[in-house]
Amino acid sequence: SASEPLKVMISGAPASGKGTQCELIVKKFGLVHISTGDLLRAEVSAGTEIGLKAKEFMNAGKLVPDEIVTAMVSKRLSQQDAKEQGWLLDGYPRSAAQAQSLEKMKVRPDIYILLNVPDEVLVDRCVGRRLDPVTGKIYHIKNFPPESEEVRKRLVTRPDDTEEKVKSRLEIYKKNVEAILSTYADILNQIDGNRSKDEVFEEISLLLMQAQEAKANREKLG
Ligand code: AP5
Repeated sequence: SASEPLKVMISGAPASGKGTQCELIVKKFGLVHISTGDLLRAEVSAGTEIGLKAKEFMNAGKLVPDEIVTAMVSKRLSQQDAKEQGWLLDGYPRSAAQAQSLEKMKVRPDIYILLNVPDEVLVDRCVGRRLDPVTGKIYHIKNFPPESEEVRKRLVTRPDDTEEKVKSRLEIYKKNVEAILSTYADILNQIDGNRSKDEVFEEISLLLMQAQEAKANREKLG
């Protein structure tokens, strides 16, 4: 019989490559990608009530209040596709309170992946990042330039990707990370994210296959 679907959390500093790796993970493992950053940006561009509240925090490089984000995530996790295909949670939990909310709801991943990238690389990755609003694909002006002039012309820069705001986002990340990691210490896997995206993906891919196998074996044993 088919085993329970895999549940994965991916984390790391701003621009550590979470979104880039998630594209590859989804393609190979078919998990439902739940990115709080993407969900919030969609609310902002649709001009919803949540979007109007979230916008000022995001544009300032600050965290959106926990209750807004937690409600959004629990709603998304409860949808049928996430239950059937498994999920890949990206950008959540981002504070001790958010981690506690998940624990209370008994939402726990099988594996927790942390991408490690040095600070100076992060700033360069953020400032050079561009997004394609049509496909949602992530580019970088030097590392991953667009494949055509047509795509290049429509690329946009995130309002929170200035050097100053990246530094503030990084500071907030560092203040919160320890409290979150302690919740997932038993399933934590730290990965060197300062390598080519294919090398990083190869390592993640191995870890996810191992996690899948371990899960299937546990289920067989009952
Ligand atoms: P969010 O969208 O989650 O932003 P983030 O955590 O700052 O992460 P990024 O999206 O900046 O980076 P990434 O790690 O996905 O890197 P990427 O793959 O794009 O959150 C945005 C905001 O929303 C927050 O600041 C907050 O306001 C709010 N928010 C979200 N979640 C929240 C929560 N839980 N609670 C409260 N508020 C919340 O890569 C970056 C660049 O590097 C790209 O240009 C890419 O092409 C390039 N790159 C990627 N990998 C490589 C590689 N291996 N080599 C070279 N270049 C690479």
